[in-house]
Amino acid sequence: MQLLVQPLGKTIEFQPGANLLETLRQAEVPVSYSCMAGRCGTCRCKVIEGSVEATSAVTQENPHPAGMSVLACQATLTADCAIEIPEPDEVVVHPARIVKGTVVSIDAPVSDVRIVRMSLNRPLSFSPGQYANVQFMPGRERPYSMAGVDTDALIEFHIRVVPGGAVSGHVATQLKCGDTARISGPLGTSYLRRQHDGPVICVAGGTGLAPVLSIVRALLEGGDRRAIHLYFGVRSEADVYGAGTLSELAERFPNLAVHTVIATGPARDRHRAGLVTDALDSDWGTLDGFRAYVCGSPPMVDAVRQTLIAKGLGYEHVYADAFFSQPETAPLPA
Ligand SMILES: Cc1cc2nc3c(=O)[nH]c(=O)nc-3n(C[C@H](O)[C@H](O)[C@H](O)COP(=O)(O)OP(=O)(O)OC[C@H]3O[C@@H](n4cnc5c(N)ncnc54)[C@H](O)[C@@H]3O)c2cc1C
Ligand code: FES
Repeated sequence: MQLLVQPLGKTIEFQPGANLLETLRQAEVPVSYSCMAGRCGTCRCKVIEGSVEATSAVTQENPHPAGMSVLACQATLTADCAIEIPEPDEVVVHPARIVKGTVVSIDAPVSDVRIVRMSLNRPLSFSPGQYANVQFMPGRERPYSMAGVDTDALIEFHIRVVPGGAVSGHVATQLKCGDTARISGPLGTSYLRRQHDGPVICVAGGTGLAPVLSIVRALLEGGDRRAIHLYFGVRSEADVYGAGTLSELAERFPNLAVHTVIATGPARDRHRAGLVTDALDSDWGTLDGFRAYVCGSPPMVDAVRQTLIAKGLGYEHVYADAFFSQPETAPLPA
């Protein structure tokens, strides 16, 4: 049986019962995906001829916007059909690699965040905003977003220490300089869209600052002078980190406006009090023509996405990475 992928005009043979996302990946179609569990919505594509079967109830909980009809990771191919993948012109494919990182430094800018920098045994190219699967400890791997750009001397991850977290707990208490980690990637689709040249809003919740810093640095250090509005939302003043990096960037680049927004308790140092969604709501009228990059916890990403869409930003122009935790599966081989 055959699957036609538009607008590439590519035809792929498949066996009935094949998973749509797997089929696209095996055929090296540059399709975007992230959680592979029907939760993030990244692999959404449109069935334009024939039909596919949704394989999970999760799909029902992910209402699709007009014209976008199926989550590829949750769809089974049963008969000839045609699908359309979004934005193939902006799909960037880096070679998937497994590299070895050696920990060079671990900083704790606030009590529940660790900034881990590693040297790599060979280069890993990625687009600003992407993530990699990192195996800091035997048997468990987790996705973490790169905080820098791929020409930096060291790769950098910002890891929030989650209560009871297997990997983040290991990073907080066991990981030390000289330890090695297996890094595979890059992955993810909330990367910088370089063909758009209008204004940009970046919203980071907590360690969502990592991919947002990657995007903002790539724009600014690449000489881009468009308006960039960075909103950094944290729970309280005690959770603010990276302030030095952000103010240094804002001083060097007048086209960058940084808003640090404190959800609870008093706000200091010209920070703003309230929810990041309220700050966006009061700062902006229509956002037609903007692009937005949103990274952080799933509830925050959902709320921000709704706020931005209500202001006229197209659903497809909000590039979001929600930091879903991973469903518990059998540990990986060590
Ligand atoms: C695409 C992607 C990119 C990501 N990038 C980053 C990143 O740059 N920085 C980062 O810190 N994290 C990031 N994450 C989250 C990260 O992959 C892990 O889920 C997180 O570090 C927790 O792993 P753990 O092993 O410590 O916790 P686990 O052992 O997996 O979970 C322990 C318990 O904590 C809960 N839990 C897990 N995560 C959270 C959370 N964030 N908040 C509250 N409770 C939680 C779980 O439900 C579980 O009950 C990303 C996730 C995705 C999907
Ligand atoms: S990759 Fe399919 S919904 Fe996340």
